[in-house]
Order: sequence, then C-alpha cells, then structure tokens
Amino acid sequence: MRKHSEETRPMKLPDGPKTPPFLQTIEWIARPLEYLDERAQRYGDPFRVLSPHWPPILYFSNPAALQEILGSETERSERFDTSKGNLVLKPVVGEQSLTLLEGERHLRQRRLLMPPFHGERMRAYGELICAITTEVMSQCALGQPFTVRSVTQDISLKVILSTVFGLCEGARYEQLRQLLSQLVDGFASPLGSAVLFYRSLQQDLGAWSPWGRFLRRRQAIDQLLYAEIAERRAQSHTQSQSEREDILALLLAARDETGQPLSDVELRDELVTLLFAGHETTASALAWALYWIDYLPEVRDKLLVELDTLGPNAEPNAIARLPYLSAVCQETLRIYPIALNAFPRIVKRPMELMGYHLEPGTVLIASIYLAHQRPDTYPEPKQFKPERFLERQFSPYEYLPFGGGNRRCIGLAFAQFEMKLVLATMLSQWQLSLVQHQPLRPVRRGVTLAPPSSLQMVVKGKRPHLKSEQPEVSKK
Ligand code: HEM
Repeated sequence: MRKHSEETRPMKLPDGPKTPPFLQTIEWIARPLEYLDERAQRYGDPFRVLSPHWPPILYFSNPAALQEILGSETERSERFDTSKGNLVLKPVVGEQSLTLLEGERHLRQRRLLMPPFHGERMRAYGELICAITTEVMSQCALGQPFTVRSVTQDISLKVILSTVFGLCEGARYEQLRQLLSQLVDGFASPLGSAVLFYRSLQQDLGAWSPWGRFLRRRQAIDQLLYAEIAERRAQSHTQSQSEREDILALLLAARDETGQPLSDVELRDELVTLLFAGHETTASALAWALYWIDYLPEVRDKLLVELDTLGPNAEPNAIARLPYLSAVCQETLRIYPIALNAFPRIVKRPMELMGYHLEPGTVLIASIYLAHQRPDTYPEPKQFKPERFLERQFSPYEYLPFGGGNRRCIGLAFAQFEMKLVLATMLSQWQLSLVQHQPLRPVRRGVTLAPPSSLQMVVKGKRPHLKSEQPEVSKK
C-alpha cells in the first residue's frame, strides 16, 4: 500500500492492477466480490482500477474519504458530477430518469418524489404490505419447495406497483408485472449482465438474442406505461383523479418553473426508475434476510421470540420498531450490500483527497461493500451478527447500504419498512425452512448483487400464535 507522504506535494494516483482494462471489466462482472477483496488486500485503501470506457477509477472505503466524497449535499454537487457515471442504467431507465439528472432539475425531482416514501405517507402502506405478503405466501403449497426470489420479487413488485399507480388490478397491471419481472430476470447472470456493461454487445440480433429480447420487453413495458399515462391524463380533471395520492398522480400534477407539466417521456422514465429501483433491490434484500434467518438458528430463535411479543395481527408501526428485527435487516444489508458501490462521483475541478491530487474526469467510487468489510469498524466482518447494530451506532460513512449525499437512495426508509413488515408477516405466520442448508455466495444481477436464484425454501406449516407474554430479547 502506498504510504501517505509527509510532504506538502500531493501523491500520484494510488496503485492498482496492470491487467488490460477489458479483462478487469470482465472480472468485475463475473466475480465482483473477489475482485474487490483481492484488490483491497493487495493495494489497500484507496486503489485504482482501469476500465475501457473511463479515465482512472479510484476505490475508497475509509470513512473519512467517504465523508469527503458523499458528505454535505450542495457542496458535493459543485465538486462532482454524479450522473455521468450512471450511464450504464440509461437503456433501462431512460435519460430523463432521476438517476441521470444533474443540478437543479435533479434536486427538484428528488423533492417531488421523496415524500411518498417517508413519514406518514409511507406508513399508510403498512397494512397493504402485510396483506400482499399474506396473499403471495398463501399461494405456496405446504411441503412444496418454492423459489425464494420469485416470492420476494412478487411481493416487492406488487408493493411498488401499488405505491406508484395506486390500486392496481386488471390486465394491464398483470402484464406489466410479468414483463418487469422478465426484464430484470434477464440480467440474472454474468452473461445477462454483460450486455449492460459492453456497448458492443448491445446489438439487436433478433428476439432470441439477449439485447433483442431486452429491447422487445422494454418496448412492451413502454406501451403499457404510455397507455396508463394517456388514460390518467384524460381523467386528470375528474374529482377522483385529483384526490389520488399515488406517485403517478403526483408526477402528473407537477409543474416546472415555467408552469409546464412533465412530458410523457419524462413521466415514463421516472416511472420505470421507481419500478426498478423500488422492487429489484428490496426483493434481493428480503431473499438474503430469509436465508440468514434460517441458516443461523440462533438468529431465527431470537427473532421469533421478539415477534411473538407482539401477538397476532400486530400493528405495522409496532413491527417496524422491533429492535432485533431492525438489527437483522441492517446486518443483512451490511454483509452483502445489494449495491456494491454508490453511484460514481466524477471530479469536476482539480482537488485533493487523502493526499492524492485528482484531475477533472477522475472517477471516485465509494465502495459500500469494502466499507462494510473493514475489520476496524466491524470486527469479524464475514460473520452475520445482528447484535453489532444493538451494541453501537455506525456513522453514515461506516454504514451506507443506501449510498449518501445528494444521490442517497430515496427509498431508504420505505425499503427498510417493507423489509421488516414482510419478514414479520412471513415468519410469524409460517414455518419456513431452507431446502439446502449450505453457505451461499452472492451472484451478479445486472448492476446489483443477489443470492443465487436457485435458493429454495419450503413451507413446513402454519405457526401457532402465542398469546402469552414473551421475555425481552437480550443484546447477546
Ligand atoms: C434494500 C433496498 C434498496 C437498496 C439497497 C438501495 C440502494 C441504493 C443505492 C446504493 C443508491 C445510490 C446512492 C448513491 O449513489 O449515493 C440508490 C439510489 C436510488 N434508489 Fe435505492 N435502494 C433500495 C430501495 C429503493 C426503493 C424501495 C426505491 C423506490 C422508491 C429506490 C429508489 C432509488 C432511486 C430513485 C435512486 C436514485 C437517487 C438519485 O439519483 O438521486 N431504492 N439506492
């Protein structure tokens, strides 16, 4: 690891592997965790990697550097470009997506979209989340293995469709649900993911080629979304429409500084962004949580004791406040964060960071995974230990599964709320068990990481409801 110079002259860029950029990207796609672990071990923090499409990319994981990169919102947006690094998402979300907006427009869209995912408006979805979970779980036959991913994805997709469109029933929603699932499942392998990273693979070679299939599904999704937008615009003057509180209603009512509404393309891109960002990540997080809870019987036992203190038909807000359940969700997102990195931050003007001189164009990566694996912050980082979150509080630069600063995930509160309600509903009503009790490694799904899609569980029976008082969950 390069030593920090005592002199005032800033150091050159940090060290990193010399393998050709093309091969480094293949490795990043095929074995992302090994890629990060090996580089961090060999070159320390920070290290440099090479990519065919970018100037030097520097990875940081120490909290002081992450604070510099992500820290206070306004100052950082002047120092870093935070949208160009997300171009890999453009084919899916479109260029008017929140993730690709910059400056004042980005801020305005965030202010518009954040409120429904927080506070009272978020809590109003509590009963619905529990009801959707019960409905999806009721379709799992007793004693029959089920694919964990398909259940958690079904739940999170139904939840986000309801938040975005309000009550959603009927053929259009059913089609939308299936197409969205198919589109994200297309990225469920390193090969499927590679089409996002290599523009040369983005060739339409017919309906059976990966990119051709993607384009056809995207077109079908767009048609459904544009039909919904047209219908809702046509109804916008009616009273029932003006009373709606779903996100599409909010977007339809929004006006820019010149009084103009969002165009159809802007609406489509924002809807797709929320539908994807809002279900794919949460589905993976829930699948991981179910795995860890059953894989570690001591975690499951403590959690069941805590859940049983609430009795049957627990109130969603009471569930969300449970300390051990919260700690299990936090540890789930620590050990294998769904997004390995925050969005890239690209230096806009010359600056110094941790003694290095950075020229405009340098790409800075706040590595969520490596920050969560630092033994100085998390002793025994490879062990799943929810107790660490009961024993101390971590700063936003030590624990950052949702990124930080001006790009911090707008669904942070919503995702955690949903995770707790879904898990509590499943575990307090059904006895679930892993089909194969074995260690699991994460696999790539597009730009995120997830448990393997082959992960299966089985419903062993319904859980009897305990009415008696249960002992408090201790910290150890
Ligand atoms: C466990 C679930 C989730 C995880 C782990 C997660 C993680 C992240 C991360 C790491 C970022 C990038 C932040 C940065 O660069 O600083 C992000 C951005 C974003 N997330 Fe999430 N997310 C989750 C759920 C959700 C949900 C439920 C929604 C829907 C409301 C959502 C919507 C977004 C959006 C729109 C952005 C872009 C924000 C911007 O560009 O300003 N996410 N998320």
